[in-house]
Amino acid sequence: MLVSATEMLQKAKAGHYAVGQFNINNLEWTKAILTAAQECNSPVILGVSEGAGKYMGGYKTIVGMVNGMIEELGITVPVATHLDHGSYDACLKCVEAGFSSIMFDGSHYPIEENIAKTTELVKIAHDNNMSIEAEVGAIGGEEDGVIGRGECADPDECKMIADLGIDFLAAGIGNIHGVYPDNWEGLSFETLDAIQQKTGDMPLVLHGGTGIPDDMIKKAITLGVAKINVNTECQIVFTEATRKYFEEGKDKVGKGFDPRKVLKPGYEAIIAKVKEKMELFGSVGKA
Ligand code: 13P
Repeated sequence: MLVSATEMLQKAKAGHYAVGQFNINNLEWTKAILTAAQECNSPVILGVSEGAGKYMGGYKTIVGMVNGMIEELGITVPVATHLDHGSYDACLKCVEAGFSSIMFDGSHYPIEENIAKTTELVKIAHDNNMSIEAEVGAIGGEEDGVIGRGECADPDECKMIADLGIDFLAAGIGNIHGVYPDNWEGLSFETLDAIQQKTGDMPLVLHGGTGIPDDMIKKAITLGVAKINVNTECQIVFTEATRKYFEEGKDKVGKGFDPRKVLKPGYEAIIAKVKEKMELFGSVGKA
């Protein structure tokens, strides 16, 4: 069922676990993540960056593909299609295309402008039965060409944005997208604690899930994180498995050149990775 992410994340926050947002890149990615979620009986959020949206042929194509898979693969767990780090215009496009959730990333605007734009989009999203995530404190690293440094959000600004009626909040706590550098100082639990104290029941979102040690993930969940975004890690295991296929010369054996055979190890690697994360986040059996 394609649903907004509000209910699944409220339940996750109350139940002290987190729902994974796994970013999709193509049909194989989508099918792998939906299959893993169904096998784990876990709710799931399919993240779509603006770049991935363009790559896959537009937001409407994605909605059609996901709805088709839900029906034809017999997916019964709650699924949300969620725009990841959307601009104002991309949010409007996803509303029109039939997404069930959007993230407006106004973290690079002055706080007043972030508030004004978020306020408008909250109304539009809710009028369309969609959930909306907002961001305070830029989350660093490189994501689809957007480069920033890991920041720690100001808890008072988090409270201001949370009070606009958004459904979940992404706040920088020293996390970054992509692989963490060797000298990364880890998550700031002090900041996370302060944010949760100000924002109460609001489900908090941890971006940059790739490479955060398991014990930090578990601690973040105890401090109010109810959604964890993972993208790069699926890309890495997909590419490793695909490379191995070629290195072992499997493309040269029989009909090993068939793209359905070529992409299978990567597809299976994504299923295994997503299941591992669902176990870690505690969302298994929570559908
Ligand atoms: P990673 O690529 O570091 O897993 O981050 C994903 C993310 O936060 C998407 O918004």
